Amino acid sequence: MNSQITAIAAYAPEKRIDNTYFEKIIETSDEWIVSRTGIKERRFAAEGESTSAICVKATEKLLNENPGVDLEGVDFIIVATTTADQVMPSMASQVQNTLQIPNAGCIDIMAACAGFIYGLILAKGMVAAGTHKKILVYGAECLSRFTDMTDRTSCILFGDGAGVALVEPSETPKILQTITGTDGSYGKDLYLSQTATVVNGEEIKRDGKIHQNGKVVFKWAVRTIAQNAGELLRKNNMTLDDLDWIILHSANLRIIEAVANEIGYPMEKMLTSIAQFGNTSSASIPLAWDLARQAGKIKKGNKMLLLGFGGGLTYAGAIVVV
Ligand code: COA
Repeated sequence: MNSQITAIAAYAPEKRIDNTYFEKIIETSDEWIVSRTGIKERRFAAEGESTSAICVKATEKLLNENPGVDLEGVDFIIVATTTADQVMPSMASQVQNTLQIPNAGCIDIMAACAGFIYGLILAKGMVAAGTHKKILVYGAECLSRFTDMTDRTSCILFGDGAGVALVEPSETPKILQTITGTDGSYGKDLYLSQTATVVNGEEIKRDGKIHQNGKVVFKWAVRTIAQNAGELLRKNNMTLDDLDWIILHSANLRIIEAVANEIGYPMEKMLTSIAQFGNTSSASIPLAWDLARQAGKIKKGNKMLLLGFGGGLTYAGAIVVV
């Protein structure tokens, strides 16, 4: 059975944090942040606004913006997140309870900023297996709660947000061939630990905050993503000319520009959410999709290449037909 994304929406919390916020707490400037990252502002969840709550907000947007869509018959919920409100119960089961979706299987998955694409790939497989017919896939993060606000090399990057896609059977293939991969030897270059003190035999901080080696991640991302864009196109017997848009995880505008330059694709066709929302990890791809849809850019039948990468270091990609 083929599958498709029948609806997609995204939500970002109300509280806007512009770059001047950081000028007051660390040694930085709006000019440095914009020129080195492309980020103009990001959103932070309000006190008590949880990751599962912003998933629910994204679902309400999905229903409001797609009058023909309802939650009747949703049989599985996948929440990709690195910033769950708690380890157990899962975010997915909290969403199930709030939205009163009876009999839905529920799991959280963790593949950092690649999580949303991993979720789509799992949903595609479940539809193909014939076991499930209506799956909600979320990418949702409250990164602001896990950000080290004293580390100027990372705190300026992250924001909060949630996206949701509804995956259902399709007569023709609309989530085409996909790609996944990981190089776990880079584990210590991007981590968030509550309990462990060692990764790959090397010491890490156990402070519940995100730590990274920005330069290493940057270089790995550009090299890996450029290779994978080509690999994914070959798997689908397509070339860049067959694509209408590319959505690469919005980690840093300079990473997106470097990938576009490396593969020879125009920046105007790279859809991003970095300026408005910062790096929202697993939510960044649906947020970029939502911004472009609201701007009237994405049309029915468009072909889009989606690529996520993040802590692991891991990556996942898919080509989808809208
Ligand atoms: N404000 C002002 N100066 C800053 C700064 C800030 N917020 N953060 C770092 N600097 C300084 C550095 O201390 C350094 O100063 P020095 O030359 O005197 O030592 C200088 O700016 C350049 O630092 P550098 O680390 O080379 O900057 P960069 O261009 O690599 O940008 C990142 C840093 C983190 C923005 C960039 O490496 C990045 O985005 N990496 C990828 C991270 C990522 O995407 N992580 C998540 C993946 S999902």
